[in-house]
Amino acid sequence: MSNSSEKKRYFEAAPTDIDVENFRKVLESRRSVRKFTDTPIPAEILDACLDLALLAPNSSNLQPWTFYVVQDPTKKKQLVKACLSQLAAKTASELIVCVARTDRIDEMAKRNLSEFPFPEAPKAVQKYYKFIPYNYKTGVLNSLGHARKIAFGVARKFDKQLPVSAFNPSDAKLWASKTTALACENLVLALRAYGFDSCMMEGFDEPLVRKILNLNSQQYPVMVIGAGERAADGVFFPQYRFDRDLFIQKV
Ligand SMILES: Cc1cc2nc3c(=O)[nH]c(=O)nc-3n(C[C@H](O)[C@H](O)[C@H](O)COP(=O)(O)O)c2cc1C
Repeated sequence: MSNSSEKKRYFEAAPTDIDVENFRKVLESRRSVRKFTDTPIPAEILDACLDLALLAPNSSNLQPWTFYVVQDPTKKKQLVKACLSQLAAKTASELIVCVARTDRIDEMAKRNLSEFPFPEAPKAVQKYYKFIPYNYKTGVLNSLGHARKIAFGVARKFDKQLPVSAFNPSDAKLWASKTTALACENLVLALRAYGFDSCMMEGFDEPLVRKILNLNSQQYPVMVIGAGERAADGVFFPQYRFDRDLFIQKV
């Protein structure tokens, strides 16, 4: 018998009709394409792919990213130059700068409460989003980072288990970049699923990219993604990986 004071539970069934073969085909046919045709990516497909990118898992749902789709001709030309004039950038019909950011942690924490998908965020969620910004923010002159380092050190002496945290701006950058890279992967797989291709690039001049997009010091360009239709000779060699035993350990 149901009890009115019983906690309401949310159920979301996992779909069971997923075509694994097609999923594999998307993953296995994704290659780094260095030469694209002139065929543009239709705007609605690009938007659909960007929307799928935003569905990537991300730390505490704080969504610490911005994807700059650089379409202004002058900016695009500068960006190609910033990408060391790589063919993948020169021939791409779209260039997307994927930026990790640590400057909107408070704003995103607040949004998690104001846009929580139930009429009101549960108490535990409210508590979580009051606390969580302090785990990743480092503060002026790393004041919060230093304080947390000391507090964590003390807590560990009492056998307390603690989450990954940012003790300095580099840790915070890593935190945001980790999550942003997951969205980048979603983006390139989505493009592949729609019949388009991509090349992730970190071969770019960071100060120049920062200047083109006017990024602040808490916005970090993680990679530039060139995207478009694969040219017949757009993949330069077959894909190869080393022996899986080098990378997978069952312990
Ligand atoms: C973070 C990152 C940065 C990369 N930077 C470049 C780049 O600047 N230029 C380039 O041609 N390829 C770049 N690549 C592509 C890699 O060289 C490529 O993924 C790797 O050789 C494996 O080939 P595959 O992607 O076709 O499987 C990059 C890949 C990643 C993930």
